[in-house]
Amino acid sequence: MASLLFLFLLSYVINPLSVEAIIPSLYIFGDSTADVGNNNYLSDKAPKANFPYYGIDFPGRTATGRFTNGFVSVDYIARFVGLPRSPPAFLSNTNGGLKWLRGVNFASAGSGISETLWIDVIDIDEQIKNFKLVAADHRTRVGNRTTDRTISKSLFSFSTGSNDLFTLFQSLDPTNKTLENQMIESITNKFQDQLTMLYSLGARRFVVFGTGFLGCIPEIRKLVPGNNCLEDLNNLSLHFKNATKSLLQSLSSNLPGFKYTFGDVYEMLVPVFANPLQYGFREMKAPCCPPPCTLNSTYCRNRQEYYNWDSFHPTEAVYRMVAKLTLFGPPRVANPINILALVNT
Ligand SMILES: *[C@@H]1O[C@H](CO)[C@@H](O)[C@H](O)[C@H]1NC(C)=O
Ligand SMILES: *[C@@H]1O[C@H](CO)[C@@H](O)[C@H](O)[C@H]1NC(C)=O
Ligand SMILES: *[C@@H]1O[C@H](CO)[C@@H](O)[C@H](O)[C@H]1NC(C)=O
Repeated sequence: MASLLFLFLLSYVINPLSVEAIIPSLYIFGDSTADVGNNNYLSDKAPKANFPYYGIDFPGRTATGRFTNGFVSVDYIARFVGLPRSPPAFLSNTNGGLKWLRGVNFASAGSGISETLWIDVIDIDEQIKNFKLVAADHRTRVGNRTTDRTISKSLFSFSTGSNDLFTLFQSLDPTNKTLENQMIESITNKFQDQLTMLYSLGARRFVVFGTGFLGCIPEIRKLVPGNNCLEDLNNLSLHFKNATKSLLQSLSSNLPGFKYTFGDVYEMLVPVFANPLQYGFREMKAPCCPPPCTLNSTYCRNRQEYYNWDSFHPTEAVYRMVAKLTLFGPPRVANPINILALVNT
C-alpha cells in the first residue's frame, strides 16, 4: 500500500502551480537540512559545505553551501509554491531589499532550537531576530498593510531539532526516562516560544519537519557493532517528533488562524529502512562521499541509489522524497494536511 502510494508520488512531477497570489513568500528556518549558504559567511568553527564535491549535482556543479549533492527539500517546496527561485540565504544579501520580497532562508548548519555542540552558528532565536529585520525592511519598501498581508499568507518552514538531540544525547543516560522526558519537554517548550513569537509577528502558515532516523547516520553507526543503527538515538528522535506533533496540535487549537503541515520524516522513513530497494535505494549505510568529502575523496557514481551523501547528511534523492511526501502525501506523513492543502486554505 505504502509503496503503491510512493510510486504514484514518484510519477508526480513537481511543477509550479499558480499559487503565487496565495503564497507571496517563503521564510525558512533550520539547520544543515535547510541551509543554502548562510554558514559560508560564518567563522571557520561553523560547519561548511562550500567546496567540492558538495553540490556536484547542483546546476553548474556549484558548491553553494548546501550539505548534499544537489537540492534540499525547501528548494523543491519553493519551486512548487511558484517562487522564481529558492529564497536566498539571509547573509548573502547584506543590503536586503527587493531580493527579500519573495522570501529569505535563515537556516544555519549546526544550529538548534537551543544551543548545540556547534559554536558560531545562528540558532533559531537569532534566525527569528533576522526575520524581524527582514520584516522591518519590507515595511519601509511596501508599507505596513502589504507587509502584514504578505506575512499572514506566507509559509514559515522549520527543519530543526536534530542538533538539539545530538547535543542532548551526549549527556543523557538512556535508562533515565524521567530526565529524558524533562529534557524533551524543555526543548519543546522553547520551540513553542519560538513559534508563538512568529505568530505574534503575524505568521499563520507553518511547515514543520520532524526529526528522522538520527541513529542511522553513518557517523553514528560507527559507534555500533556491525555498523547498525543506534536504537537509543532513534528512540530519542521518535520521542521528540511525537512531542513536536503534540505541540503543533496544541498551538493550532489555542492560537486562532494557526495552520500547519507537520512533515513526519520519521514515519516517512520507516518503510524506506524496512524495504530500501522498493524506494530505489541500494546503499543505506555507506556515505556516497566519504569524509572529508573534498577533491581528494572518491565519491559514488550512482548517487540516486545512495541514502547518505556524506557522513552526516542524506542525498538529494532523500530530500526530494521528503519534499514530495510533505507536499502531496497522506496524513500519515503530512498531517493534519499536506502543503498542497495548506496553501489552498
Ligand atoms: C525504543 O522504544 C521502544 C518503544 O517505546 C522500546 O520497545 C524499545 O525497547 C526502545 N529501544 C531502546 C534501545 O531503548
Ligand atoms: C510515539 O508515539 C507513538 C504513537 O502515538 C507511540 O506508539 C510511541 O510509543 C511513542 N514513542 C515515544 C518514544 O514517545
Ligand atoms: C589533498 O591531499 C593532498 C595530499 O595529501 C593535500 O596536500 C591537499 O590539501 C588535499 N586537498 C584537499 C582539498 O583536501
